[in-house]
Amino acid sequence: MKHLLSVCDMKDKVEYLLDLADKFKNGLIKGKPLKDKYMAMVFEKASTRTRVSFEVGMSQLGGTPLYLSAQDLQLGRGEPIADTARTLSRYVDAIMIRAFRHKDVIELAKNASVPVINGLTDLEHPCQTLADMQTIREYKGDFNRKLAFIGDGNNVCNSLILISAILGMDIYVASPKGYEPDKMIIKKAEKIARGQSMIKITNDPYEAATGADIVYTDVWVSMGHENETKERLKAFRPYQVNKDLMNHAKADAIFMHCLPAKRGQETTSDVIDGPNSVVWDQAENRLHAQKAIMYWLIR
Ligand code: CP
Ligand code: NVA
Repeated sequence: MKHLLSVCDMKDKVEYLLDLADKFKNGLIKGKPLKDKYMAMVFEKASTRTRVSFEVGMSQLGGTPLYLSAQDLQLGRGEPIADTARTLSRYVDAIMIRAFRHKDVIELAKNASVPVINGLTDLEHPCQTLADMQTIREYKGDFNRKLAFIGDGNNVCNSLILISAILGMDIYVASPKGYEPDKMIIKKAEKIARGQSMIKITNDPYEAATGADIVYTDVWVSMGHENETKERLKAFRPYQVNKDLMNHAKADAIFMHCLPAKRGQETTSDVIDGPNSVVWDQAENRLHAQKAIMYWLIR
């Protein structure tokens, strides 16, 4: 039985999953491969894309998704995560979870007897970055590219570092001091990349953006960090992906954002709503990439 808790869990499967995602997108996989399968979807935090794309994707594959708000489960009243895992495993064929703490998802997986899918934690967002790679391949054709991530070295950034290392893509991350990506993740990625691709962490957004094929950003205030809003807005101000910064990237560079976005903070309307932005294709690809993930794990 397999889980998808980290990008590392699909290390040898990324190319297969990308091809599968393209097949789903192009309608090449027929039938209802997940007929009579059920997936519990536990959410401790808000979601638009992850929730809807998983629900629709599971239904399109013939299965049944169950949206479960953590507050409505006994989990929200203190039932241990391990007991929740054991119980849900008796009813469903997979559990997708969006949680505050990555270690809770590890605990869930340890006690589940069905596959567990990470739908975002404080450490990683693997499903997002599979869809991102599908989008990059669509627009750029290959991964012999420079990806610049500008902003918070949080969940999305951590998963991007890992998946870039797996695919041999150069990644430059520019974050303010104190908001750099996770050190363990960088170490793991360096081990995966084995010097074949660049992983560069800097505090200089221009160094990262210069000559980039892809410029990617994320919100400055992630879910759960709302009480740090004031200091974050100040620290991240020089890291806005605006026209000026985009002008340092290649002329045909694409702009990416996992969404939701705050125009006027991490990016500006002329960039995210401009001709180089691919954010809506990126959002659409969540559906296709996650169908590939569910097909791989649950079938
Ligand atoms: N990108 C992403 O995961 O979006 P949601 O928070 O809307 O699911
Ligand atoms: N880093 C953001 C991603 C949202 C999809 C957050 O954790 O809120």
